[in-house]
Amino acid sequence: PAPGWSIDADVVVVGSGVAGLTAALRCTAAGLRTVVVTKARLDDGSTRWAQGGIAAALGEGDTPGQHLDDTLVAGAGLCDEEAVRILVTEGPDAVRRLIATGARFDTDAAGTIELTREGGHHRRRIAHAGGDATGAEISRALVDAVRERAVRTIENALVLDLLTDAEGRTAGVTLHVMGEGQHDGVGAVHAPAVVLATGGMGQVFSATTNPAVSTGDGVALALRAGAEVSDLEFVQFHPTVLFLGQDAEGQQPLVSEAVRGEGAHLVDADGVRFMVGQHELAELAPRDIVAKGIMRRMREQGTTHMYLDARHFGAEMWESRFPTILAACRAHGFDPVTEPIPVAPAAHYASGGVRTDRYGRTTVPGLYACGEVACTGVHGANRLASNSLLEGLVFAERIADDIAARRTTAGTPVPHPAPRVLPLLDPAARGRVQHVMTQGAGVLRSAASLAEAAEQLDAIHREATDGEPAPNGTAKAAEPGVESWETTNLLCVARVLVAAARRREETRGCHWREDHPDRDDAAWRRHLVVRLSPDRT
Ligand code: SIN
Repeated sequence: PAPGWSIDADVVVVGSGVAGLTAALRCTAAGLRTVVVTKARLDDGSTRWAQGGIAAALGEGDTPGQHLDDTLVAGAGLCDEEAVRILVTEGPDAVRRLIATGARFDTDAAGTIELTREGGHHRRRIAHAGGDATGAEISRALVDAVRERAVRTIENALVLDLLTDAEGRTAGVTLHVMGEGQHDGVGAVHAPAVVLATGGMGQVFSATTNPAVSTGDGVALALRAGAEVSDLEFVQFHPTVLFLGQDAEGQQPLVSEAVRGEGAHLVDADGVRFMVGQHELAELAPRDIVAKGIMRRMREQGTTHMYLDARHFGAEMWESRFPTILAACRAHGFDPVTEPIPVAPAAHYASGGVRTDRYGRTTVPGLYACGEVACTGVHGANRLASNSLLEGLVFAERIADDIAARRTTAGTPVPHPAPRVLPLLDPAARGRVQHVMTQGAGVLRSAASLAEAAEQLDAIHREATDGEPAPNGTAKAAEPGVESWETTNLLCVARVLVAAARRREETRGCHWREDHPDRDDAAWRRHLVVRLSPDRT
């Protein structure tokens, strides 16, 4: 749709989690006219839901080098070592700046930051807040700072597409705003720099820890804009998500790795600790190994879930250290103080995304990506626990500095040759896409399951393209609107994800192929990079 209104800025930040707001604050501090646009309210993204914490070498005796080693091991041979070095070296000061911005982390009586452990970390390295509400505190501090510094924000605004000038440089974004008064409907923000910080795509699966807004909008936008996207096959499934039944859909309650970091045990249906002997770190092995261990034991026992046993914490520790998780468990009828709680893996994090260099620049000039939407190279085939908030912080700062150093002006946007992922999908197709993805491209994949998923997704796309109602009526083309755009984005990223997962005929990190159970360094120690041609739908 053609924009009905427009505003001008030096930089548009799309998204308002740790990455987006950090970038916005730093751009503002550098004197850049900054506009934050966000699909829901400022604190509605994934950041708010982060529990365990933020990893950084802050503890006595810890070093960035040790953090680097753990990150590279988790990444299973596909991390960009230099990007990781930047992350772990700049991380501690970035966390201190976050504290200076107003985030309050848990400390001991002497005021020293308390650190916990999570999977893949060989030492206590995770700073946390409110016990298990780290993301909520970071979000609060950043939203407060954005309001105090009067950074311009537009909420309830779904960014649709990138605007580019005649030379193919970024010239802004089009967006659809709902209920913000002056700027309702489809409009545009013109700016020479756009920072995508739209978060993840967990909603591409039926059950996920991600909130409803995580629909892969940034990756879909980047694909439509001709940017390179990398490593989409590496979807991380968090091992311990509260199991609410096989048909549970949408956002599911996370049970932080920090619970295992503080000594909880994973036990099977017979009460036996099954991770002991599978890895030197047992329950604290990297996340992909624990998720696989759970899935294998579930198959052996013919069950739908395993259990997390932390009764030995006692009521007092549960209440003080993990109040959010305790409340969520109790709200669903489980009491971790008195019983082992049911857990199973669910989609959690996209390790891949829009490909960037070490300053967050994508392959489209002026377009940056940061946080979960980005693929900076720090996560490789499997993100190390609690490196995501850190990545958002560190690379947002680098992006802001790069934009401030360049200070370009916006060119005149030219119309895009053609809409690239039209037609829009009816929102009713969302559940169908999610079901197909969970069945065929979930935690355990095979050539057959992925082929079936690809066929089903193509059918959904074809039905909408042909304008023919699908047999069950869910894939017909729809009227423009946030839900139809979101569903269209989900289908777009799902198809690219499945294509990548089909090509990678090996098991590495969080990509688990039943038919190719081994890691194949000779053939596959490389990245799958995708770029859609402009006329591709
Ligand atoms: C958790 O608290 O287990 C999640 C941490 C993360 O995803 O890094």
